[in-house]
Amino acid sequence: MIENVDIDIDKDPSNIYKILWDKFERTDELPKYLNKVVEYNYDDFENKIYSGSDEFSNKIIKSLLSGDIILLKNSFEKKYLEEVKQIFRNKFENSNSAFHKMVEGCPNFYRNITQDLSKNYSFYQVKKTYYLFPWNKKNESDIGDFYEQIYKKWRMLKYLSGFYKDAWEFNTPKDGIIDRFQVAMYPSGSGEQELHQDPYLFQKFFISIYLSKKNIDYKSGGIYLIDKDNNRVDLENKIDVGDMSFGFGTIYHGVDRIVPITDNSNHESERWWIGLYSTVSDYVKNRHTGRPVKNLK
Ligand SMILES: [Fe+2]
Repeated sequence: MIENVDIDIDKDPSNIYKILWDKFERTDELPKYLNKVVEYNYDDFENKIYSGSDEFSNKIIKSLLSGDIILLKNSFEKKYLEEVKQIFRNKFENSNSAFHKMVEGCPNFYRNITQDLSKNYSFYQVKKTYYLFPWNKKNESDIGDFYEQIYKKWRMLKYLSGFYKDAWEFNTPKDGIIDRFQVAMYPSGSGEQELHQDPYLFQKFFISIYLSKKNIDYKSGGIYLIDKDNNRVDLENKIDVGDMSFGFGTIYHGVDRIVPITDNSNHESERWWIGLYSTVSDYVKNRHTGRPVKNLK
């Protein structure tokens, strides 16, 4: 068992964002409500992040601390994400639902989180999901360079969080903190996730990559946030396939039940999503998980 995980060794002392987080972040005053959604083109944003500009770095840290969600347009090519969906659709069909604790040797695995299984989670959720871990890279011959495609962007967000770009990429469960990728499909009619906050411990942000579009792949439902006036804000209206979003995981968010498209098209209504999360392994005492939000103020 690991009593304490020390993440200071993963922080890059020369990283300007580390210096600014140390200066401005108060972990007892993290945002709970959405302030506003700020859009950038992915490439412009990445250039700005790595430029180390004082003005931009101060601006982005204050924006995130105020409760902004950053929507990065055109982060991935639509054509590539279509391939990803097909690869994982095949995996879902050819896998049995399983569960594995995050201990040494933990395989990648598929889990069909049904209404019934949802009881085992800290908050209600229904989705089909495939969990991937970096140490299994060599066992996944059918996914091409999926890990690298995603890591290219995840590294930028680790850097913005004040860590080394490749923090935890080579970790395994015995090290305490590990990277976990999730490729998920929310089926229409049942896929949803209760309003919740994600744990704030090592990873500041909840990071999403969107592979489906409202009104085309499904009628309605999907990610929403709660703003300072207690209104639900439907983020899906701004989302296109290939976009990525992030913001403090403490901001109240959920996924509304996916409503199917009822025209005569014969495609199944589905909402696909990729989530990136650096979490503690099952060797760490007092694992910290997300929590549902039952009563809004
Ligand atoms: Fe979440």
